[in-house]
Amino acid sequence: MVQAHPWDKAAAGWNSHAVAIRTWLRGATQAMLDAAQVQAGARVLDIAAGAGDQSLDIAQRVGQHGLVLATDISPGILALAKANAMAAGYPQVNTQLADAQSLGLAGANFDAAVSRLGLMFCREPQRAFQQAHAALKPNGRLAALVFAQPQHNPCLVISIATARKHAGLPPLSLDRPGDYCEPGSLMSLGQPALLASLLADAGFVDVKVGPVAAPFGLPSAQHYIDFLRSAASPLMVMLAQLSVPAQQAAWDDMVEQLSQFNTSDGWVGPNELLLCSARAP
Ligand SMILES: C[S@@+](CC[C@H](N)C(=O)[O-])C[C@H]1O[C@@H](n2cnc3c(N)ncnc32)[C@H](O)[C@@H]1O
Repeated sequence: MVQAHPWDKAAAGWNSHAVAIRTWLRGATQAMLDAAQVQAGARVLDIAAGAGDQSLDIAQRVGQHGLVLATDISPGILALAKANAMAAGYPQVNTQLADAQSLGLAGANFDAAVSRLGLMFCREPQRAFQQAHAALKPNGRLAALVFAQPQHNPCLVISIATARKHAGLPPLSLDRPGDYCEPGSLMSLGQPALLASLLADAGFVDVKVGPVAAPFGLPSAQHYIDFLRSAASPLMVMLAQLSVPAQQAAWDDMVEQLSQFNTSDGWVGPNELLLCSARAP
């Protein structure tokens, strides 16, 4: 029987913010698909696909003679991915429940594997890269987007620090290497050298890692928090033990601090991603 997963709780929130996410990540997503050389007729593995927003872009590129296998650890979010693909008219999108660290797709001969904002949640990312490598055909391409290091992601740092304070957890420091980067956490793969060595160790060649600016533009800081409180599973888990008023106080505190990113043109939260790409020899 399929087990519920903590990300199931975030599935509806991630899905209901699809339009904002699509706008936020449009440029980065196209850069990822270019780096993976996704083209017509290709068979593409989409790892940690979530509600499948980028799966739709892949489906459009590969066309009706191509194939997209959207995988994720959360059955709830994967059901939304399938429904979204069908509604968009892309029957070439299939879904499969799978932990990225144990995909079990060795020899599947994919032309490309991509992952948008998912691999950093793996406690053992080395295994995830090995599994992706095993699923690719010779010369198959991998491209993935992850959050860059904390110094370039003040909105994430403010949100995490504030959630930790309200949850009674010890504070983290930007001056302590490793803080904000624990395995499996949002910015755990944010160091370019770490990402490059994980890819090389998994057997990939032609490894490239570079920053991609992805500012998040929304009408207000409150809109960003409305997104996080329904879609950001790590923060939701951290605050889940608090009473409802205590949770509200934490979210309100975040709104106040994040208002520093108000502009004359709405709220623009700085956000930096890393795009990595590589080839399976
Ligand atoms: C931030 S969402 C990104 C979803 C989607 N790729 C997008 O960009 O819209 C992260 C996704 O990673 C999935 N995830 C987390 N840990 C995972 C793991 N170990 N294996 C596979 N998927 C995982 C979650 O279920 C969630 O759907």
